[in-house]
Amino acid sequence: MISIETVATIKYTDQKPGTSGLRKKASHFKQPHYLENFVQSIFDHIKIKTSSENTSIVVGGDGRYYNREAIQIILKIAVANNVGNIMVGKSGILSTPAASNIIRKYNLTGGIILSASHNPGGVNGDFGIKFNTENGGPAPLSVTDDIFTRCREIETYKTALCDYINIDELSESKILNTNIKIFDPVIDYALLMQNLFDFDIIKAMFSNGNFQFIFDGMNAVTGPYAKKIFEEMLGAPKGSVINAIPLEDFGGAHPDPNLKHAKEISKIMFSENPYNLAGASDGDGDRNMILGPNIFVTPSDSLAIITSCSDLAPGYRGRLKGVARSMPTSCAPDIVAEKLGINSFETPTGWKFFGNLLDAGMVTFCGEESFGTSSDHIREKDGVWAVLFWLNILASTKKSVPEIVMEHWQKYGRNYYSRHDYEEIESDKANALVDNLRLKLFDLKGKDFMGLKVENADDFQYTDPIDNSVTTRQGIRIIFTDKSRIIMRLSGTGTKGATLRLYLEKYETNQDKLNLPTQDALSDLIALAEQIAEIKKYTGMDKPTTIT
Ligand code: G1P
Ligand code: ZN
Repeated sequence: MISIETVATIKYTDQKPGTSGLRKKASHFKQPHYLENFVQSIFDHIKIKTSSENTSIVVGGDGRYYNREAIQIILKIAVANNVGNIMVGKSGILSTPAASNIIRKYNLTGGIILSASHNPGGVNGDFGIKFNTENGGPAPLSVTDDIFTRCREIETYKTALCDYINIDELSESKILNTNIKIFDPVIDYALLMQNLFDFDIIKAMFSNGNFQFIFDGMNAVTGPYAKKIFEEMLGAPKGSVINAIPLEDFGGAHPDPNLKHAKEISKIMFSENPYNLAGASDGDGDRNMILGPNIFVTPSDSLAIITSCSDLAPGYRGRLKGVARSMPTSCAPDIVAEKLGINSFETPTGWKFFGNLLDAGMVTFCGEESFGTSSDHIREKDGVWAVLFWLNILASTKKSVPEIVMEHWQKYGRNYYSRHDYEEIESDKANALVDNLRLKLFDLKGKDFMGLKVENADDFQYTDPIDNSVTTRQGIRIIFTDKSRIIMRLSGTGTKGATLRLYLEKYETNQDKLNLPTQDALSDLIALAEQIAEIKKYTGMDKPTTIT
């Protein structure tokens, strides 16, 4: 007989309200009752909406250290709480976009995703847990705040005293009243991609043998998805997907798809013999980087180009509704939207702000400058999807990445764009810098800095067009009459001290000036940002720690 135990728990108060999940060191998660407390709070929250028997959830993660143990804990708590149905990705593997798809496809109550995204994993690395709701997207603030409140209040959690549950074989079983299905985490996602993109034309491109492609799974979750889709279904040569096996510590690497961390593909693409296309995704599979021969496609440009090419992909043909971007993302997508006569939206930083627009059918594509791009096919950003979109564009147009990008700039103008991060600043100093900027905003309006005239300066505020909720203080915007922008905001995800993000954007339509080195094209704005914000004075740092 399997019995259910009610365990006394201590209350934790270190969750950060306003965030969409918990992200901490793995060792922190391993404290007695820590994960249990959060999981019980999720199930308690779900009970407000639906009975336990009718609750169906999917569970999986990016395969990092503690993933497997966490799944055992979750399953036992779910059984003890009488949860009706649980789907578990085989061996605990499930990318964030694939989880979003499963929730939507099978009309589940929600999903529990185990990941700390692009943060390093392993014994000394990070771990995380988040809850996605029935639309497949990250839980809205009202839900996460309720879960966090419960974490601080509950005194006990329930768990089933049963044996280790095998998650490494496809199976269906029942423990007490809970059906547990171990499913193939790749297949549903691969089918979704097949419905969106022109697989035949991409297959033909690979089969002619001249197209060289490489995808970096970064030893994280996308490896199995990429192998199945790129190599097996589309016929990319074996070995096109590198670092394809999810490892508990991501091989000691930092699974963040950017020029610094996706070293192998960056080296190839900026060499004398670059491939035609390279892509990479992060720990849990939602971020993407797109590289062409000697060119890094900025995520902002990628979103704009995908929007302008939407008819090339069968799943999007003739149904483009609108595009949304986070405020710091460059305005390149807006320019496309204007020309195409569709709506564009500017939302605060963070994927959750796209949810209502997508659910209301107001936007088709959305993205953030921080390597996040996706569409209404799910409610998360999607790394493999973005790479497939580029494969579809290249196969349909038979043009190269640099040609596609250059033609885009010639037609719509180029939004030179860069992000300068100042990391690990003392919080007081970072706050003082932003407070000082806020005081200056009014005086900045209309000011002329040697030809750069400020059209508007404000602290970004967003009113959601669906539920009218207002989100304030989302970052300082200094917008110039020539469409250049200087944006500054403090990171909401950093773990050590504060991170100041300075985003610089200059809009250029002069056909002779479309090919300048980015930092050169932005040099006036960089100097002006320093003059206005006095970054050196406040932070004591004379240059950014990271330039993207
Ligand atoms: C960063 C990115 C943001 C993204 C978030 C979660 O947040 O800038 O676009 O949604 O990570 O991946 P930040 O640290 O800037 O608050
Ligand atoms: Zn991620």
